[in-house]
Amino acid sequence: MKIRVQENELLFHLQGETVSYIMQVVDGELVHQYWGKKLRDTGNLSMLPHTPKSDNLDMLHQEYPQYGNGDFRNPAYQIKLEDGSRITHLKYDSYRILSCKPVLKGLPAVYSEKEDDTLTLEITLKDAYSGLAVVMSYSVFAGSDAVARSSRLVNEGGKRLHLLRALSASVDLDVSDYEALYLAGAWSREAHLQRRPLGPGSTKLESRRGMSGHQLNPFLALVSPDAGEEQGEVYGFSLVYSGNFLAEAEVDFMQKVRVQIGMNPFDFDWVLEAGDSFQTPEAVLVYSAEGLGGMSRTYHKLYRTRLCRGEYRDQVRPILVNNWEATYFNFTADKIEEIAKVGSELGIELFVLDDGWFGKRNDDTTSLGDWFVNEEKLPLGLGNLAERINKQGLKFGLWVEPEMISPESELYRAHPDWCLHVEGRRRTEARTQLVLDLSRKEIEDYLFDTLSGIFGSIPLSYVKWDMNRSLTEIGSADAPAERQGEIAHRYMLGVYSLMERITTAFPHILFESCSSGGGRFDPGMLYYMPQAWASDDTDSVERLKIQYGTSLIYPVSSIGAHVSAVPNHQVGRFTPLSMRGDVAMSGNFGYELDLTRFTEEERIEVKRQIALYKDIRSIIQQGELYRLKSPFEHKETAWMFVSEDKTEAIAFYFKVLAEPFGPQINLRFRGLDPEKNYEVEGFGTYGGDRLMQVGLSFDPLKGDYASTIFRLTAV
Ligand code: DGJ
Repeated sequence: MKIRVQENELLFHLQGETVSYIMQVVDGELVHQYWGKKLRDTGNLSMLPHTPKSDNLDMLHQEYPQYGNGDFRNPAYQIKLEDGSRITHLKYDSYRILSCKPVLKGLPAVYSEKEDDTLTLEITLKDAYSGLAVVMSYSVFAGSDAVARSSRLVNEGGKRLHLLRALSASVDLDVSDYEALYLAGAWSREAHLQRRPLGPGSTKLESRRGMSGHQLNPFLALVSPDAGEEQGEVYGFSLVYSGNFLAEAEVDFMQKVRVQIGMNPFDFDWVLEAGDSFQTPEAVLVYSAEGLGGMSRTYHKLYRTRLCRGEYRDQVRPILVNNWEATYFNFTADKIEEIAKVGSELGIELFVLDDGWFGKRNDDTTSLGDWFVNEEKLPLGLGNLAERINKQGLKFGLWVEPEMISPESELYRAHPDWCLHVEGRRRTEARTQLVLDLSRKEIEDYLFDTLSGIFGSIPLSYVKWDMNRSLTEIGSADAPAERQGEIAHRYMLGVYSLMERITTAFPHILFESCSSGGGRFDPGMLYYMPQAWASDDTDSVERLKIQYGTSLIYPVSSIGAHVSAVPNHQVGRFTPLSMRGDVAMSGNFGYELDLTRFTEEERIEVKRQIALYKDIRSIIQQGELYRLKSPFEHKETAWMFVSEDKTEAIAFYFKVLAEPFGPQINLRFRGLDPEKNYEVEGFGTYGGDRLMQVGLSFDPLKGDYASTIFRLTAV
């Protein structure tokens, strides 16, 4: 990692492990010059692909473009002045280099941990007329190819400004023949890979739901047409934010592509008083010359070690059993203890009590907000249940959904104005619930006190923090008219602040985020909670796609995956316990079914799975992921995990439907050391080069929903 400035030409050269990112000031404009494979720092990199002319900004590659003076493409920001005008023109002012990464106040972001593991370049641009200054921040990291970008907009003028658009990053590239790759889906069908040519016009991904959403992940990559898992060029853009986002690639009349990512300007209007500043969320940009696999591994390492935080960041995660699909709302303390008892015999380490333990909650129509124990189900209280679980040798975890309020609740009766709403309009319910107005500090404080009261009074090791609806009627009873356009973002800031306070107050608790499955599986959440429930769909066939897609960006340690009952509750499919185990073991492993109903044969199989996962979980959770066969392209799926030192690896192969008269399967491994020899359990010893270049042959698996595992150990 290095940041080199050629003062005479005001050329800024950022270097990651194998990547260069170059900008230059020309006629006062901050011009984007290059982003790609590392260039040697020869001292003369000035390239000027497009001579800037002030009357032709439309042709210029820019770093933070504006609208109104000749560039007709999407701007990176827009402000409205008190005189009603929206024209600005940013010119270069100054720069500084920091050997650290400053925190983004109130926002999640990648962080530096050790002295000199990060370098940050800040470039300040100014619009003299309005007094707007934009501080653009670029960080590079030791041993990484990521560039983290964000912008701080400062009102240095004497008059109030309205911020209408403030994206995190904008880059102009010469790649109009590339394809857009992103993750799309729905509830219980998250993270499906999509790929399509760019073409003239826009490829626009966004959320207007007040949350990142199941529908589109806050991520966009441009990939060369030949890009696969191990080859081709990839430009990845990932936003560290959990609210409304925009990611867009616009191909213009000169076949240039402007790629942008940031908070969605839709319905956004932020008042910036004189002297105030606005910090955008962070975008993490990753270039890979080694295809999608290379990009994913860069994101995984950075997000696992420099975005996730807390005591559990570097620890292997406990194997849990969650009672949601086992009992739904219908449980007693005795039933929970019975499940935990069997869990303990099987080797499970943690019990998570899901929805239904509080207020009068017997279905999803009441009680969110009433965070006191339901005495009909748990007459001796939560603490007593936690102790009983602990006595069985399991740690205790608890589900909460703090951001919500049921109209049928004591909290709503006491504070009907505490939800997001607009006076005189209907309050749209989803899952019979409304959203608490977390833009208000007193509501954040109330939740902090309430949650702290519970978390601090019982022996609690784990919290599942759920969030089960999008935001509607986004307005606050507390904010003046001119600030109503800030509420969606202020809501997110309130959630982040609450999560920061709670996770700091309870450092020993492992937090998992959830949003009806993967509705808020984004980098913003990972900053506070190092793992997330990937999907409410627990069917192992569906999960192949969901987990494969999620792994494009997110580290495997963060992807919650459970074995559930058959017929599967979401799709009604029967799959064998072996495949359910193999799919769930490919993530952060657990069970979500009534363990007391296992047959003796199933108990033996589950014991085997748990013992195996304990043995391999450090490779799965902390090793490197190599995707071998995509469920989006093949009838087979395969992926493998390799320990950092390449001495151990484990590969999973899945075949959903059996086919007659098939050829031998040949699986080519990846990520091994070509110089090392590996013993493949049950097969023999082979060179790493042979296993990667030739592969390993085996007979087609028999039966539908078949899977198998290969364990490789360097000898
Ligand atoms: C949605 C979650 O995704 C489920 O796992 C479960 O916790 C339910 N909410 C409980 O209401």
